[in-house]
Amino acid sequence: MAQAREPEPVVDERSIEVHWREEDTYQPRPEFIAQANLTDPDFYRRFSLDNFPDCYDEYARLLDWDKYWHTTLDASNPPFYKWFVGGRLNASYNCVDRHRVKDPNKTAIHFVPEPEDEPILHVTYQDLWIRVNEFAALLREFAGVKPGDRVTIHMPMVAELPVAMLACARLGAMHSVVFGGFSAKACADRMVDAGSNILITMDAYWRNGQLLDHKAKADDTVKEAAAHGLTVDKVLIWQRYPGRYSSQVPLVEGRDFIVNDLLPRYRGARVEPVSMPAEAPLFLMYTSGSTGKPKAVQHSTGGYLAYVTATARYYLDIKPEDVYWCMADIGWITGHSYIVYGPLSNGTSTVVYEGVPTYPDPGRPWRIAEELGVTIFHTSPTAIRQLRKAGPDVPRRYNHKFKLMVTVGEPIEPDVWRWYYHEVGKGQAVIVDTWWQTETGGFLCTQAPALMKMKPGSAGPGVLGINPVVFDEDGREIEPGSGQAGYLCIRNPWPGMMQTIWGDPDRFIKTYFAKFNKNPNSKDWRDWPYMAGDGAVIAEDGYVRILGRLDDVINVAGHRLGTKEIENAALQVPEVAEAAVVAAHDEIKGTVPDLYVALHPGVEPSDDIKKRVSDMVSEVIGKIARPRAVHIVPDLPKTRSGKIMRRILAAISDGREDVGDVTTLANPEVVEAIRQQVQGG
Ligand code: WTA
Repeated sequence: MAQAREPEPVVDERSIEVHWREEDTYQPRPEFIAQANLTDPDFYRRFSLDNFPDCYDEYARLLDWDKYWHTTLDASNPPFYKWFVGGRLNASYNCVDRHRVKDPNKTAIHFVPEPEDEPILHVTYQDLWIRVNEFAALLREFAGVKPGDRVTIHMPMVAELPVAMLACARLGAMHSVVFGGFSAKACADRMVDAGSNILITMDAYWRNGQLLDHKAKADDTVKEAAAHGLTVDKVLIWQRYPGRYSSQVPLVEGRDFIVNDLLPRYRGARVEPVSMPAEAPLFLMYTSGSTGKPKAVQHSTGGYLAYVTATARYYLDIKPEDVYWCMADIGWITGHSYIVYGPLSNGTSTVVYEGVPTYPDPGRPWRIAEELGVTIFHTSPTAIRQLRKAGPDVPRRYNHKFKLMVTVGEPIEPDVWRWYYHEVGKGQAVIVDTWWQTETGGFLCTQAPALMKMKPGSAGPGVLGINPVVFDEDGREIEPGSGQAGYLCIRNPWPGMMQTIWGDPDRFIKTYFAKFNKNPNSKDWRDWPYMAGDGAVIAEDGYVRILGRLDDVINVAGHRLGTKEIENAALQVPEVAEAAVVAAHDEIKGTVPDLYVALHPGVEPSDDIKKRVSDMVSEVIGKIARPRAVHIVPDLPKTRSGKIMRRILAAISDGREDVGDVTTLANPEVVEAIRQQVQGG
């Protein structure tokens, strides 16, 4: 069985002197500066710690409130903060109604189907308003959704996904969107944890040229949830092609309902947006941490919406007249904050693309950008690497013109950055490398696009009001410019910060604050720096370079996975006695999981076992977690106290001959055997 695991000493990773060449910097072009939203350097003075927290009133004023707040920040019980206390608002009103009144015919969502012969669907703010109202009526009348309920949404990248989210928000219900690529089991676990008994899904969707049957996952989700004591009352199924059911799986009488059949009953229905307290939760978003169980990050209505609205305006430079395209999936935080809430709250047009960037060829994104006149483009380093590999010269064949481009989710190598800048952006667009997390709601570090230089490979300094700091193991501050790495923390709270972990406030404190809090009884927020879990170095100019996770999280293609989740899945194969997963370097995906397993005594290694281990990981979590390789080894390298030395395995996976010091191991001889097995020779 899984053995208890102490945290591994990673001292040499976090305290290493980091040597890299300071990169040449790039300046934004005058054309960009001339039109930018954030051009006044005085903004940063207004958001200095001296003016904290009132500076954030400026963010909240970008929203329409039913009732103004009386207290900007209630920090009486750190690290549990309440922002804009006394205020009331509705998120769907702010993202839909207020723009629909001013500019009903403006496109809110451009839905781009993966098959290129299917027309792009342009959903105007008026259309969106009608759809959100009708679906909210269905949720309320037919499914009985009330304020405070949790509604699980397991959907692909289609326009109906934001419609469903905004309908929940309209009713004051929390949505819990589960990434469409996650398995039925992963979806069920999240439903059980959230106590959510309504599932919104879709029958099918296109991915890489195939119409995938998605409804099948809903059946397994319901079964799996039932095994854990949760009854799913209703499964609401959108049709990818309205009027036609595209799944092979039959409907279950009394439980499964086709949304498109029900909607005509609510034609013309209008649902008054429920006026919610600013600190009412808007949604849950599950993410991986250092335990085997994903945790639900809880975000507020007022603080979160103010934060993503303002950061989208100032750092993505979004204006109503822009066409903005973020290629992330709405099932991750990037999609929530910077496909749905941030862009729509700013009244701009946001693109929702169903498929993969390289389908049917690597010119696809640039054709979409040309056709829609995309001005702001947002994606991950993994997608940039993929597009570069598949067609390094392709972007220059197209006439798209971006003013700003964004990267998010993982460190970007300076030479990948330069390809993005010169080839995709044609040397004209500003690039912002944005560092943040599911927990932080919105950007924490990036440069102000018109005011600051760009430095390849570095997220910028803290954004407005955010004060980053790097601590060493003992909580001593590491001076910017010293070249030393440490734990990246934020000194102060901010409105977009998570409120808590759903149902587990102790875990919230322990995970993000305990390490650097010197006095657990302190009621002063200054004593509660937020610990992000990333290692970083701050340069003399304040630019933060992210080195990667310091905890048991690995980042595969910009997706966050828990090592324990993967290992626990592997251990479900009966022959497996022990498992250790490491993040191996990958040219395209940044890092990928390599899985090492040891079998029970007497069991012969076989390809069949390897395959079953790999399939199990995919079934329990989803395809994104499927290991690159499963290595069956005689034993895992361990210290005398029984800790698995993952660092040695990672070195082997990366093809390094020198795997570091093995003298402290209980079984040093196994290292050479594993190295030969994996690397050959
Ligand atoms: C990593 C995604 C380097 C980091 C928004 C963080 C980054 C984790 C960057 C959060 C970046 C995110 N440069 N690394 N610009 N942005 N990361 O919760 O390790 O899915 O802790 O949020 O991604 O991943 P999450």
